[in-house]
Amino acid sequence: MPAETLPLQSTEHIVVVRQAVRREAVALGFSLVDQTKIVTAASELARNTLVYGLGGTLLLEAVVNDSRQGLRLTFEDHGPGIQDLQLALKGGYTTGSGLGLGLSGARRLSHDFHIESRPGEGTRVVIARWK
Ligand SMILES: Nc1ncnc2c1ncn2[C@@H]1O[C@H](COP(=O)(O)OP(=O)(O)OP(=O)(O)O)[C@@H](O)[C@H]1O
Ligand SMILES: [Mg+2]
Repeated sequence: MPAETLPLQSTEHIVVVRQAVRREAVALGFSLVDQTKIVTAASELARNTLVYGLGGTLLLEAVVNDSRQGLRLTFEDHGPGIQDLQLALKGGYTTGSGLGLGLSGARRLSHDFHIESRPGEGTRVVIARWK
């Protein structure tokens, strides 16, 4: 599968992202439970990119590490960034109307989780799940 970049500018794009992640997880032979884990994580991060990041992109890549196959997702936006990353990752913190569980949930559902955010510049979240 070639790397694919998908836009995240509207709620319809979240549906497209969910479908694309599901499709690639199936193609890689992920179990149904593992498909759901990565789709759920993707859904949360996509919503954050749209709502807080004011839109951005998802880069979807199939990756291999020591003959293990995986799916890597990179969410990127040029929104306001996250002031206090520690707080946002702890869970239960929101500046919106959610429960503040999206980031912590996505981290729990992923094998690799990396986040970079600079106030005034934007946010990049990279997750991976291995087969
Ligand atoms: N891409 C982003 N850009 C700017 N701020 C963000 C971004 N993603 C998350 N945040 C900040 O981190 C907080 C926590 O995010 P998280 O996804 O955990 O919770 P939430 O979106 O507020 O609620 P929930 O996901 O449970 O509906 C957000 O309220 C927001 O302040
Ligand atoms: Mg959220």
